[in-house]
Amino acid sequence: MAVSIKSAREIELMREAGRILAMVHEELGKAIHPGMSTLEIDILGERLIRSYDCIPNFLHYNGYPASICVSVNEEVVHGIPNKKRILKEGDIVSLDAGLIYKGYHSDAARTYAVGKVAPEVQKLMDETKNSFYAGIKMAKAGNHLHDISNAIDAYISQFGYGIVRELVGHGIGTQLHEDPQIPNFAQERRGIKLRPGMTLAIEPMINLGRADVEFLDDDWTVVAADGLPSAHYENTILITEGEPEILTLLK
Ligand code: MF3
Ligand code: CO
Repeated sequence: MAVSIKSAREIELMREAGRILAMVHEELGKAIHPGMSTLEIDILGERLIRSYDCIPNFLHYNGYPASICVSVNEEVVHGIPNKKRILKEGDIVSLDAGLIYKGYHSDAARTYAVGKVAPEVQKLMDETKNSFYAGIKMAKAGNHLHDISNAIDAYISQFGYGIVRELVGHGIGTQLHEDPQIPNFAQERRGIKLRPGMTLAIEPMINLGRADVEFLDDDWTVVAADGLPSAHYENTILITEGEPEILTLLK
């Protein structure tokens, strides 16, 4: 499938979808505390999304049963909210959320510390976010898609972390997942040329230990095979004539 180029009108709608999702994430981040269940996060997230007259795009996506993916510690992504899963001091929790505004999708993820976490875990979270920024530096018209992948890999490699390979970033627009796929590890080919009007979800998933993951019997939850913590950071971005624009952060 060809990579879609958004018109000026579509870009305005993508901006609004992104801005609303940024506000949802701000609220969710403030709500995180020890003693909270992962289901409470989902309920709050769905309520926030609907309060802006938006639709949670993850809900029922390929049968996914919730609006927010809530992944704790060694869970990489796609954790299923559960009222019995209670956050405790020292945990980390990744919240992946998305919504549809007037037919346009946004998608973003953050990993939060619950109270105080071990320094090496805080560093994993910080460097995962930093690797997104290393990647987006290359997200410029005229560069190639895999310049982003290669930059994320080069940045992360210095720490010896495991880069998850089974899941990748993606184009986004009238669909949650559009072409192209955006791997977070080095590629041999340069990939497609980036053009103004492309909207992309860049989302490094980084393990403190080895890169290998397993899929749990719930058919969704992806975990680090070695049981060590994993972090996720994602934004929806726009390729422009100049610097890329991050759509899912508040200005
Ligand atoms: N951000 C996730 C992704 O890009 C979306 C979660 S998939 C769902 O794959 F099924 F849980 F919705
Ligand atoms: Co995504």
